[in-house]
Amino acid sequence: MSQGLDDVIAAETRLSSVDGARGVLVVKGFSLDQIAGHKRFEDVAWLLLGGLIDALPDAATFAARLGAARREIFTLVPYIDDALLALPPMDGVRAIIARIADGEDLVTVTRLLAAPAVLLPAFLRRRQGLAPIAPDPSASHAADMLHMLTGETPPADVAGALDTYLVTVADHGLNASTFAARVVASTWSGLTSSVLAGLAALKGPLHGGAPGPIIAMLDGIATPENAEPWIEAALARGDRLMGFGHRIYKVRDPRADALKAAVRRMAAGSSVLPGRLKLAEAVERAALRILHDHKPDRPLDVNVEFYTALLLEALGFPADAFTAVFATGRTAGWLAHAREQRLTGRLIRPQSAYVGPAPAEAA
Ligand code: ACO
Repeated sequence: MSQGLDDVIAAETRLSSVDGARGVLVVKGFSLDQIAGHKRFEDVAWLLLGGLIDALPDAATFAARLGAARREIFTLVPYIDDALLALPPMDGVRAIIARIADGEDLVTVTRLLAAPAVLLPAFLRRRQGLAPIAPDPSASHAADMLHMLTGETPPADVAGALDTYLVTVADHGLNASTFAARVVASTWSGLTSSVLAGLAALKGPLHGGAPGPIIAMLDGIATPENAEPWIEAALARGDRLMGFGHRIYKVRDPRADALKAAVRRMAAGSSVLPGRLKLAEAVERAALRILHDHKPDRPLDVNVEFYTALLLEALGFPADAFTAVFATGRTAGWLAHAREQRLTGRLIRPQSAYVGPAPAEAA
C-alpha cells in the first residue's frame, strides 16, 4: 500500500504521457516542444477533446464557439460581489464557475473552458476598482484574456507567451487535480462538478499553488549573492523549496524549459525581466547544488512552477492569481480526462485498509 498511490496505474488514457525518467511529456502524439510555442491553446484543447465530445466541430468552428462562450460567461461577472472579492482569486473564480449548469455536451465544455479566462481578469480588475472589460470573441483565447486583464491589445509575442504557458500546462497525465476530476466524472456527476474538483485539488501548494510563493521567495532572496544563505536557512527550518521536486520527474521537468524559453523571448523587450531572470537563474543554480546535498538519494530538479512564476509576473498577473491562470490551461485536460473516464462508464472506487480498533467484544 502506498499513501500517495505512487506507481499505481489508475486509468488508461490516450491524452498524455509523462516519462519521469527521461523528462518527456507527450500530448496526444505530440511532444511538448512540438506544440508549446507552435499551437494556440484553443487548438490544443480541441485536440485533447477529439473523440470525446459528441458533435465536436472542426478546430476553427470550435475556436469560434469558445469565443462566443467567453461572451456568454461575461454575463456572470456581476455575480462577483464584495464577499467574493475578499477571497483569493482562485476561490472567487471557483465560486462563479459553480453557477455553470452541469452537463456533458459541447456547450458545457466551451463554457467551462471560457470561464477562468473571463472571470479571472474581471475579478482582478474589480478588486482594483476598475471596470471589467468585455471579451472579443474573434481574438485568440490568450490574447483575449490579456486584453480583458489590461485593456490593451497585447503584442503578438506577449499573447504568444501566455499561449505557450496555457499549452504547456494543458494536460499532464494523472496528476492530483486530474485524478480528482476523473473520480468525480466516474460518478456521472457532470463536467462542471469535475472541473470544480480539479480546481479544489490544484490550489494546494504541493500542486498548483506553488508559483505564488515562488515570487515571495525571489523577493525575499532579492540578490543573486543572497540565494545560497537564504536557501540554506529555509531548508534548515524544514521548509520545502517551492518550484523544485516532482513526484514523477526524476530529471528536469521539460515544461520548465518551455517556459524558460518563453521568458527569455519576453526578456528581450523588457527593462525589468532580464534582472529577474538573472536572479531566478542564480536561485536555480544554488538550489540544485544545495538540494543535492540536502537529499542525496532523491534527485530534486526544477519543476514547471518555477519559471511559471516569472512568466505570469511579467504578463501582469499578481502572484495570488497564478494558480487560477494555471487552471485556465489545465481545464482543457480536466475536461478531456473527465469525458474519457465518463465514457468508460466505470465508477472509481478503490479500497482502504482499516487499521483502527476492532469493536469491543459483547459482554
Ligand atoms: N524542497 C525541499 N525538500 C523537498 C522538496 C523541495 N522542493 N521536494 C521534496 N523534498 C524532500 C521531501 O521533504 C522528502 O524528504 P523526507 O524524506 O525527509 O520527508 C524527500 O525530498 C522526498 O520527497 P518525495 O517523496 O520525492 O517528494 P513527493 O513526491 O512526495 O513530492 C512534491 C513532490 C510535492 C512536488 C515536492 O517535491 C514538493 O513539495 N515540492 C515543492 C512544491 C512544488 O514545487 N509544487 C509544485 C509541483 S509541480 C505541479 O504540481 C504542477
